[in-house]
Amino acid sequence: MSRRAVVFGAAGQLGIELVRELKERHYSVIAWDRRQVDITDPAAVESALAQFDAEFVFNSAAYNQVDVAEQEPQAAFLVNALAVRNLALACRQVDAQLIHFSTDYVFDGRARAPYTEEDHPHPLGAYAVSKLAGELYAQAYLENSLVVRTSGVFGPGGLATARGNFVEVMLRLAAKPNPIRVVEDHVASPTFAPLLAARTIDLVEKGQAGLFHIGAGVPVSWFHFAQLIFEVAGVSPTLLSTNEREYRTVARRPQYSALSNGKMERAGVAAMPPLRDVLASYFEQRATMVKK
Ligand SMILES: NC(=O)c1ccc[n+]([C@@H]2O[C@H](COP(=O)([O-])OP(=O)(O)OC[C@H]3O[C@@H](n4cnc5c(N)ncnc54)[C@H](OP(=O)(O)O)[C@@H]3O)[C@@H](O)[C@H]2O)c1
Repeated sequence: MSRRAVVFGAAGQLGIELVRELKERHYSVIAWDRRQVDITDPAAVESALAQFDAEFVFNSAAYNQVDVAEQEPQAAFLVNALAVRNLALACRQVDAQLIHFSTDYVFDGRARAPYTEEDHPHPLGAYAVSKLAGELYAQAYLENSLVVRTSGVFGPGGLATARGNFVEVMLRLAAKPNPIRVVEDHVASPTFAPLLAARTIDLVEKGQAGLFHIGAGVPVSWFHFAQLIFEVAGVSPTLLSTNEREYRTVARRPQYSALSNGKMERAGVAAMPPLRDVLASYFEQRATMVKK
């Protein structure tokens, strides 16, 4: 009999890839987007999970508007924290493993080497606090939840989602005549959604629980990432570097938030391929979607 998995937030960049990867691995999958099940509604979550005897419950739903969250911290907390409590309680009732996703923004960015799971979080704003609280809820009610922190997610699904991703923003800007300015003093580990989905499911299949980081495997500044995107896409807009002082955002963001994949690799899960190859895959997959 095939293993049964549920994916909440299934229409997002990561949700789409989790559903695809689980199906490829012959799981029996139920995928719910926000219209089908709003995870902030405890009764809806409970009755949805009671209907489908799932072994694994993936939560890729999130409130990701980092700047807007400073104006509406309650909205961010409802989705990123209290809704995770709904999921954790419902998983406990049906004895399912909860697999939840969090962010590199739980850190304050003072590190100069990739963050490990042992580093202490110190969130800098409403979005980051809400995501850290979500991690705690996932761990508070369940002994075996798997919490995966990731960074700068980009997947071909971002072509069609309302929130998009950094690669799509860069391509849109490149189509205009104005120079593009990208910060060079902020470093992260932008992560390809299909690989994030695959590596997470690998961890699940190895019976892992607890906290794991899954990022690109290399630290990269947003400026250098933009350079690489344009190189791989074969376009050459005018790209200029800027910095945090010149480019202010409403929410504070960690200057350095690269994640170490060391714990994931020690668990026997494959390292990430080079970022250039990953971007080549992104553009290949994107091209098939644009044709459709
Ligand atoms: N994107 C990034 O750069 C990034 C960076 C670090 C960590 N992460 C984490 O990685 C995970 C996946 O992110 P992603 O890039 O796939 O995000 P995404 O593309 O923005 O997808 C999030 C999905 O969650 C849905 N959602 C929001 N509120 C919901 C609710 N109340 N009930 C059910 N669904 C709801 C959204 O639906 P609507 O579109 O209808 O709102 C959307 O389909 C999240 O945990 C995120 O916090 C992302």
